[in-house]
Amino acid sequence: MKETLEQIKTLAISELDDVRDANALDAWRVKYLGKKGELTVLLKQMGKLSAEERPIMGQLANEVREVLIEKMDAQKQCMEESSLNARLVDETLDVTIPGKSVTLGHQHPMYVVLDELKEIFIGMGFECLDGPEVELAEYNFDKLNAEEGHPSRDWSDTFYFDKDSHVMLRSQTSPMQIRAMETRPLPIRIISPGRVYRKDEVDATHSPMFHQVEGLVVDRDITMADLKGTLNTVVEKLYGKGTKTRFRPHHFPFTEPSCEMDVQCHKCGGIGCPTCKGEGWIELLGAGMVHPKVLEGCGIDTEVYSGWAFGIGLERTAMRRFKIADLRLIFENDVRFLAQF
Ligand code: PHE
Repeated sequence: MKETLEQIKTLAISELDDVRDANALDAWRVKYLGKKGELTVLLKQMGKLSAEERPIMGQLANEVREVLIEKMDAQKQCMEESSLNARLVDETLDVTIPGKSVTLGHQHPMYVVLDELKEIFIGMGFECLDGPEVELAEYNFDKLNAEEGHPSRDWSDTFYFDKDSHVMLRSQTSPMQIRAMETRPLPIRIISPGRVYRKDEVDATHSPMFHQVEGLVVDRDITMADLKGTLNTVVEKLYGKGTKTRFRPHHFPFTEPSCEMDVQCHKCGGIGCPTCKGEGWIELLGAGMVHPKVLEGCGIDTEVYSGWAFGIGLERTAMRRFKIADLRLIFENDVRFLAQF
């Protein structure tokens, strides 16, 4: 029996050496120390021994048991340590390695100009409205006094969605004048920036999609002097104090009288140079007093109220502001270009 005990001990210890995980360790424990384990089975046979042998063997068996328990605990601790070490090695983080540099973008030059415009107008008490790019011809043309047959309504100029020319991509932000007058209480002071679409070939100064900012004021006693005063203030804020403007007569169906506003060329100061094509002036925007027909169409009493409106091209304004020669650069999103602003 003593030999059997020794055998069990030797075998158990050598098997324990191969144990690598908690499951295997548990299986080992059951096999050698469990209720039906080899040691227990052996101890149950003690009854067969003589009275002298029994206590000696009992003591020996207990010693073996204790040794095995001790070894089992040691193995358990050893396994825990090595798994901790493996994790520590695995999850090493070298905080001294230089990080990947993140390239930060910045605002697009056209949005710089848009934000400046918004700030100027909001500072003067205007509200900023958003409007639909898919628009009804009724709002883009009819209600703006551009009747059937007006050249801008032609299929060669405008993107229509249907054969009957009812639904279209707006060709100007001016329909927002109507939408504002139809839905808002008087007085009205709004600007409305957004994309507009025309069937133009792409070149250095044209694109089938571009941006405008519409402006509209409707109140009592509004005159052309308010239009000129406000727009002159805006131009000085945008291009610097003392920037000269001039107002030329023009025609738009929805304003009467209508005008275009030019700014004196920043390059030559009005003498004439390639930038202003020898004119000394650069066209900036279209404007005018809101046509009484348009006001009346929106249910506004023209005996009491009058208004003025303007429309400014954002790309052109940004091009002038940052001296960009080609419109296409604004849309190409080439970072070598954009990084310059
Ligand atoms: N909508 C006109 C255009 O696109 C500009 C404009 C707006 C003119 C408001 C007068 C008043 O050319």
